[in-house]
Amino acid sequence: MAATMNSGTAGSGPRSGGAARIVCVAGARPNYMKIKPVMDALERRGAEVVLVHTGQHYDESMNGVFFRDLGIRPPDRFLGVGSGTHAEQTGRVMAAFEPLLAETAPDAVVVVGDINSTVACALVTAKAGPLLAHVEAGLRSRDWTMPEEVNRVVTDRVSDYLLAPSPDAAANLRAEGYREDQIHVVGNVMIDSLLANLDRARRGGALEQLGLTPGEYGLVTLHRPANVDDPEVLTGLLKALGEVASRCPLVLPVHPRAADRLADLGVPGGLRLVPPAGYLDFIALQDSARIVLTDSGGVQEETTALGVPCVTLRDNTERPVTVEQGTNVLAGRDPERIVATAHAVLDDPPAPRRPELWDGRAGERIAEVLLDRDAATGRPRPTDLPVPAT
Ligand code: UD1
Ligand code: UDP
Repeated sequence: MAATMNSGTAGSGPRSGGAARIVCVAGARPNYMKIKPVMDALERRGAEVVLVHTGQHYDESMNGVFFRDLGIRPPDRFLGVGSGTHAEQTGRVMAAFEPLLAETAPDAVVVVGDINSTVACALVTAKAGPLLAHVEAGLRSRDWTMPEEVNRVVTDRVSDYLLAPSPDAAANLRAEGYREDQIHVVGNVMIDSLLANLDRARRGGALEQLGLTPGEYGLVTLHRPANVDDPEVLTGLLKALGEVASRCPLVLPVHPRAADRLADLGVPGGLRLVPPAGYLDFIALQDSARIVLTDSGGVQEETTALGVPCVTLRDNTERPVTVEQGTNVLAGRDPERIVATAHAVLDDPPAPRRPELWDGRAGERIAEVLLDRDAATGRPRPTDLPVPAT
């Protein structure tokens, strides 16, 4: 992907006609489909967008294909941070983002999701001065062993604009003491991209390429450290998937984090490993699946929007609306419970329902909030959270 990056100095010159200059940050697979609708909506309203790619994900299959599939222009700035420990990766993004921010002097920075690049750019922005907007604010798994939970809470804490995908996320923010003027329920940007690309995905031929028949296979993704880093846990999950596969054959596009371990452990018959799928292909695979088994955050949302039954291989979810109003069922990580849940879902699939404001217009609502001229004088700064009683 580096070859297609624009290493010029977009965003460093004078603003055109007093337009707001907004830095939009993306860094890894689940960021691209979230940032694209926000960028488009901001640009439609005349803002100058500077797209910054941190380089957290860099493989063609985790990165380049998404720019092509989603029609995202090459990033204006590329930080090239790559992989590393949490501290290395977060620190490298911070060190590279700080001078960029000083040079581009934007009015606001938009970060999406909950990855290390999100929290790194949020921390730098909070100390540098521009307004900070967090897209996907308020999601909480209440599981502090998840690195993403730390990233979510810290990012929200230093954000000026808290852009929540659903009322439950806004309720979490209120319960934590954030002010009403910071919280905006805008809907789900990931669903903006899904709806915009669904027809194209359906015409793309992904099923034919894998020899799959619509409604006759299940789709699996696994990449959470809690599921794939510990061989014992992963062995249990594979055993469960093998049992489900004896009823419904499964295809698993392998995340690079899990690739070596899956190769070492070997997979049961009926479970087919394939390379990570591109965005359009993966949407098509979800859309025609009889069942999806996943530990992904975004896939829980997309299956809900598509009305496809989803079994989540985690004990908790930061996206409870997908369970309460969608097709998602939490199965945990116990192999027997996973098999029983998958059978129950195959026997009696949950009814499809789509949460409110997951309508393809979240990006527009975000642009409206960020570029609202009336709000220019009374812009929200981070809240002083209530001091806990002693
Ligand atoms: C990251 C996010 C996670 C998100 C996931 C989406 C954090 C803490 N985690 O997890 O929230 O759900 O992305 O997919 O930010 N690798 C490659 N090629 C790549 C990228 C990664 O081979 O293009 C391999 C490297 O060995 C790397 C490992 O995957 O060490 C993990 O990558 P990293 O970005 O640190 O975390 P993810 O597990 O991808
Ligand atoms: N996705 C994809 N190919 C795959 C797996 C996932 O295009 O092989 C897409 C999926 O449709 C969703 C996003 O990647 O849009 C979710 O990213 P991921 O599961 O990596 O991260 P999470 O959402 O868990 O943070």
